[in-house]
Amino acid sequence: MSTTFPFKHETFQSIKDLPSDIQSLMLRAEEQLDYAYAPYSNFYVGSALSLESGEIYTGCNQENASYPLCMCSERVALYNVGTTHKTFKITALAITAYNPKKELTEPCMPCGACRQVIQEFEHRQGAPIPLYLASKGHYIIRLDGITELLPVGFSIDHLL
Ligand code: THU
Repeated sequence: MSTTFPFKHETFQSIKDLPSDIQSLMLRAEEQLDYAYAPYSNFYVGSALSLESGEIYTGCNQENASYPLCMCSERVALYNVGTTHKTFKITALAITAYNPKKELTEPCMPCGACRQVIQEFEHRQGAPIPLYLASKGHYIIRLDGITELLPVGFSIDHLL
């Protein structure tokens, strides 16, 4: 099965088809799958993001017996940046998933909470964050930014 995505995106058949810097970023995201802690869902997620400075930050999901405490991979990576930088420019965010019990063939789609957080980081840096979404070993989609997945979202503009 291959999903028809109802938003603007570009498709890459495999990691080898990505630009070389994004290939490396996706490999860093794949490395994070080893550190993901997902004994409850079996859904392992790794993320890696690049900063304009050249630094790479990573994250993976961390689950808990108290299910609502589970933390997504994307937010671990983004909050890593937020807790170490006052200003930043994230130039790409790569996300990949793996399930040892079920072959995932479709790209990992960020959950609603992570879409909201990615939107806030885009606002903070004043620029969209290109997203590369994958499941390990399968095709990858590229989105220009989170607006494709969270159009007309709730934001700081509603508060000030
Ligand atoms: N998860 C992520 O880490 N990122 C996503 O984009 C989707 C979901 C995690 C949360 C939880 O540990 C597991 O995947 C199943 O929901």
